[in-house]
Order: sequence, then structure tokens, then C-alpha cells
Amino acid sequence: MGKDNAATLAKIAQEIQVCRLCRLYQSATKAVPGAGNPKAELLFIGEGPGFYEDKSGLPFVGQSGKYLEQLLAMIGLTRDDVFITNVVKHRPPENRDPLPDEIAACKNYLDRQIEIIDPLVIATLGRHSMSRYFPNGKITKIHGVPKYDEYRAYYPLFHPAAVLRNPSWQQDMEQDFRRLPEVLEKVREMRATRKSPSTPADDGPLTQLSLF
Ligand code: URA
Repeated sequence: MGKDNAATLAKIAQEIQVCRLCRLYQSATKAVPGAGNPKAELLFIGEGPGFYEDKSGLPFVGQSGKYLEQLLAMIGLTRDDVFITNVVKHRPPENRDPLPDEIAACKNYLDRQIEIIDPLVIATLGRHSMSRYFPNGKITKIHGVPKYDEYRAYYPLFHPAAVLRNPSWQQDMEQDFRRLPEVLEKVREMRATRKSPSTPADDGPLTQLSLF
């Protein structure tokens, strides 16, 4: 199972390496498909690769990545325990925000990564990934408040780079991270008490959110 996951993710990564579905590949050095544990219980979705990610092909390796690693260490995790990816897989020029058509072009890759990894919790980093699950959400209001469906939690977090720019958010960010083990445990329990994980009723689309 783990091996299959890794192989399927590697195949998606290969597609991303040669992706021409939007303009971003033209100015990028390397694609950044995502990295980490193919069977991660916890998946992080950032915005898009920055300067160092574009050079290395790996997500969150610059300053915000170092901060993310510190936050993970606080709850006893390393980046090898989780999977980290972005809504767009090539660096937007000058680190500008990804455009809606770029996010849309890249959506299928992210959807497939999520389907394969099947994480218990999807933690969004910043507003571009947050708006996938909380279209009208305001990060300063909803950060650290999990939304559950039948088999997963969606957990909005500040973007680490934004926290580095606004140290007054640091305490909230750390508190939100410290709540993650509890959210993971709740989804573990939810899944364990489900009668049959593969009955059609359990495989509803993301739109069947039961809370909010
Ligand atoms: N910021 C992001 O959103 N993603 C990265 O991979 C790096 C910085």
C-alpha cells in the first residue's frame, strides 16, 4: 500500500515536471510537486514555491520552511512524517500570488495527491489553500478551527511566512499547531467507528460537509 502510494505520487510528480497547463513553467527553474510521507495522516497545503523551492524542487525549504519544521517539532513530528505541497507546483514570478487560472490548472494534481495520500487532516497554510475549503473564510477569524466531514478534518492555519512578517501572530500559530494532535485523534476515532470504510455512502464528495 505504502509502496503503491509512493509509486502513484511519483507518477503524478513526473506529470508535474513536464506540465504546460499554465504559464508558470516558463519562468520556473524546477517544478515542486510536493514531498513527504506517501501515507501521511497530516497534509499541509501552501501557496506556491518560492525562490529556494524553485532551485531545489522541494517545498518549504526557505525561511518559512525552517519555521514550519520548528512548529512540527513542537508536536513531535518531522517533515518526513507529513506530506507538504502547494496549490501551484511552479513558482509564480517574483513570488507574486498565484492567479485563479493557474490554481485551476494545477487543481487536478492536488486533488489526486489528496486522494492517494488520504490524510486524516488537511492543514492549509495561507489564504489560497484555505479558500479551497473555506471559500468565505477570513484567516484571522477561522485559524485553528477545524471543520469536519465524515472522514477528514480541514484545518486553516496562517502561512508561516505571514507569521514571520507579523510576530504578533506567533502565539496563535503555535497554539493552533499544539491542537493538531487532538484533531488527528478525533478523525482517527471517527474513522475507527465507521462500519465499512468502503460503502458508497461513505465515499461522498467533499461538498458533503456536515458542519458549518
Ligand atoms: N511558501 C509556500 O507557500 N510554499 C512553499 O513551498 C514555500 C514557501
